[in-house]
Amino acid sequence: MERRVVDGRLVDGRRPGDGEEFAEGQARFEETIAADQRVEPRDWMPEAYRATLVRQIAQHAHSEIIGMQPEGEWITRAPSLRRKAILWAKVQDEAGHGLYLYGAAETLGADRAELTRALVEGRQKYSSIFNYPTLTFADVGVIGWLVDGAAICNQVPLCRTSYGPYARAMVRVCKEESFHQRQGFELLWTMMRGTRAQRAMVREAVDRWWWPTLMMFGPPDAASPNSARSMAWRVKRHSNDELRQRFVDMTVPQAERLGVTLPDERLRWNPERGHYDFGAPDFAELARVIAGDGPCNAERVRRRAAAHEEGAWVRAAARAHAARRGE
Ligand SMILES: [Fe+2]
Ligand SMILES: [Fe+2]
Repeated sequence: MERRVVDGRLVDGRRPGDGEEFAEGQARFEETIAADQRVEPRDWMPEAYRATLVRQIAQHAHSEIIGMQPEGEWITRAPSLRRKAILWAKVQDEAGHGLYLYGAAETLGADRAELTRALVEGRQKYSSIFNYPTLTFADVGVIGWLVDGAAICNQVPLCRTSYGPYARAMVRVCKEESFHQRQGFELLWTMMRGTRAQRAMVREAVDRWWWPTLMMFGPPDAASPNSARSMAWRVKRHSNDELRQRFVDMTVPQAERLGVTLPDERLRWNPERGHYDFGAPDFAELARVIAGDGPCNAERVRRRAAAHEEGAWVRAAARAHAARRGE
């Protein structure tokens, strides 16, 4: 089949409306989804499926890259060489995650430079959680434990998402995320066995991050209009509220082991449901932060834009090197 690139997008010569061939592609796509198999870059796919995935994967990639900032700020202030090495490696892992994901978006015909432009111009989003500041070193532990923990709940089901390159990238990402979560827990565990001031620092950080972490799962199901279609395409496998519940159920016993109280008076085990009941996060705050009005939105995007500009010489050098090798 003839393959070519049109408007930065890989096409196979057929367009919606090309009659029989279109119907055939559509039928094959639906069979693949129904059989729970993977859609691959060469396969015909509905334009809306492609666009949804580009948006989701780009948003995910941006989150990994922007997510380097709040923790990266602590690398030079880490309290020991060991903590510095761990944090450095973790932040570097997040850069790697961003790269796998931009790579996955490129298999859908997306242009990476354009994705970066969309991020710095505010046309594409990243996770709301990275718009909160990291005020103490305990925040590094809490981000690993709670934020990476929430990311795992969101991302493990994505290892079986219907688009092949995204699913495969997620397998490796999830392995690294579980290390991140463990290192966060281990840091907090150490601090909770330290001085009174260290314990207070952990509790204060948990109080600040708990609710924004619950917001990471997105608006409640009733207010999440795109979810049904993503579920039908098996891009998404569980609803926002299901994943939020799973995260709470996983985290409460860990908080008990750690000796911290989660700041939710409604949090209690419900034996009838077999789950923890918990309060609702402030979804109005989530909407504000997503709309750009969180504590650090402007700073995060400004810093990303500056880093991109400062990296221009690296891209120019890589292009010159590739040209000399005839690539
Ligand atoms: Fe990550
Ligand atoms: Fe991570």
